[in-house]
Amino acid sequence: MTFEEIVNYRRSIRYYKDIPIDSEKVKRCVELATLAPNSSNMQLWEFYHIAAPEVIQQLSVACLNQQAASTAQQMLVFVTRQDLFRQRAKKILELETQNIIRNSPKEKQESRIKQRKLYYGRAMPFLYSRFFGIMGIIRVIFVNLVGLFRPIVYQVSESDMRVVVHKTCALAAQTFMLAMASEGYDTCPMEGFDSRKVKRILKLPYEAEVNMVISCGIRDKQGVWGDRIRIPFDEVYKRI
Ligand SMILES: Cc1cc2nc3c(=O)[nH]c(=O)nc-3n(C[C@H](O)[C@H](O)[C@H](O)COP(=O)(O)O)c2cc1C
Repeated sequence: MTFEEIVNYRRSIRYYKDIPIDSEKVKRCVELATLAPNSSNMQLWEFYHIAAPEVIQQLSVACLNQQAASTAQQMLVFVTRQDLFRQRAKKILELETQNIIRNSPKEKQESRIKQRKLYYGRAMPFLYSRFFGIMGIIRVIFVNLVGLFRPIVYQVSESDMRVVVHKTCALAAQTFMLAMASEGYDTCPMEGFDSRKVKRILKLPYEAEVNMVISCGIRDKQGVWGDRIRIPFDEVYKRI
């Protein structure tokens, strides 16, 4: 399929055929999803791939018994892990340093490594840390002061940073769904779920947040709810 055909093929499927799908192919689609663009390359996400029928059954209850879940052959749960920011920043700094050594001209390596150390060693921990909203208030005061003198990102409160992490995770989710479509497999993204139940089933820590549950399978005719409805393009496309 061409990219356009893949995008057109992908629909949210609410009823799947009782035909198994290949776990390895699904796993490969998750691998492709990790190539999605993500904020500061922090990759504050995790992907839970569920193929065991008894766990799918529990998850479909947590997904409010939607048929998109109860008829699924497999499921993916996209999870945000903002709490892992220190570990991720440390790992990315390590990988970036090696990347610079491999790919940057010798005379630029020292300054580039220094810059990355500042970014991943200082800026990222400052941006992602949380403490009952207080860290966010400190950041907002800081950027408002700096913003008096130069352009700066103002969305740095603790809830803003939560949005950043979910935004990034949703890009991975979309990449996954397109990858699945390219395999001829179907998906349905769901936010209609009981997050406490989902977290309990997957044994997720308190700090983890469920971004999206995506059911997977092969579409049954009745699983496509009519034509694709979109707001007329001219109403949403603004050319400046
Ligand atoms: C974040 C998000 C949450 C969604 N939650 C649900 C859901 O809980 N149940 C459902 O049946 N569809 C859900 N959908 C699917 C949308 O209803 C669907 O994408 C939309 O109607 C457009 O249809 P299409 O995906 O076939 O193009 C969700 C989609 C997104 C992006």
